[in-house]
Amino acid sequence: MGTADSSIDFYKTLARSPRVILPSLLACDFANLERDIRELEKAGVQGLHLDVMDGHFVPNLSIGVPVVEAVRRVTDLVLDVHLMLSDPEFYFEPFRKAGADGITFHVEAIADLEKPGHNYARTGCQPDDLADVWFLFKTHVHSALEKVHRLGAAAGLSIIPPTDVALLKPFLSECENALVMSVMPGFGGQKFDPRGKEKLAWIRENASPEMLRSVDGGVNETTLMDCKLSGATGLVMGTAIFRGNQIQERFRMLNEELQK
Ligand code: DX5
Ligand code: ZN
Repeated sequence: MGTADSSIDFYKTLARSPRVILPSLLACDFANLERDIRELEKAGVQGLHLDVMDGHFVPNLSIGVPVVEAVRRVTDLVLDVHLMLSDPEFYFEPFRKAGADGITFHVEAIADLEKPGHNYARTGCQPDDLADVWFLFKTHVHSALEKVHRLGAAAGLSIIPPTDVALLKPFLSECENALVMSVMPGFGGQKFDPRGKEKLAWIRENASPEMLRSVDGGVNETTLMDCKLSGATGLVMGTAIFRGNQIQERFRMLNEELQK
């Protein structure tokens, strides 16, 4: 795990490198986790995307703190931890201590806390939905981002496909990463949702070039060019890399395509 500065600097470096692929370990062979990480290291990967799911914010359970600790023990790669959790702030410290360099959480999870009884985690969220709690929502997200930074990690915000990207506007100057979901979160191997493209283009216009503009879900050899042209600088890929157990070949092919 990087120190406070290095974790945040890692993201600024990633944002400056033309475009970076972040393999999502959700699609790896968990019975051979270290072997798959070694394959990725040999292929020249700069960071790993770890999908944490609680079975509540998303209809699936994946990994928790022990797996992030185990990954941290075996690699120095940047660990980009994607918290698909309700009440995510509760878990910032455990995941930072486990070795997360970047902690990304969902604005819908904060919206659900500010307006109980809704299910923005599934329906998505529009600024109008939060008009009556806008100040509380903004204050809550600001303080959550501050907490991630106090822990020394880079901070990321994520939105699901039906959520309006304008919801990110008040926070873009406080994030090192904006993660645009191009699938409904919870599972790998889904079809790319093209709504992600205009969101990436909007973020390119509205955020500092130092902020990583990530896209996550259904990114592969047929969709990566669209993501690149829309302004993505961080491309999360799971099944595209791990399918067929040809990790190095697949990563090299995808990275070559991406850097063209
Ligand atoms: C989905 C996760 C994604 C997913 C990407 O909820 O956040 O990171 O693992 O997997 P692919 O690339 O297979 O869509
Ligand atoms: Zn993810």
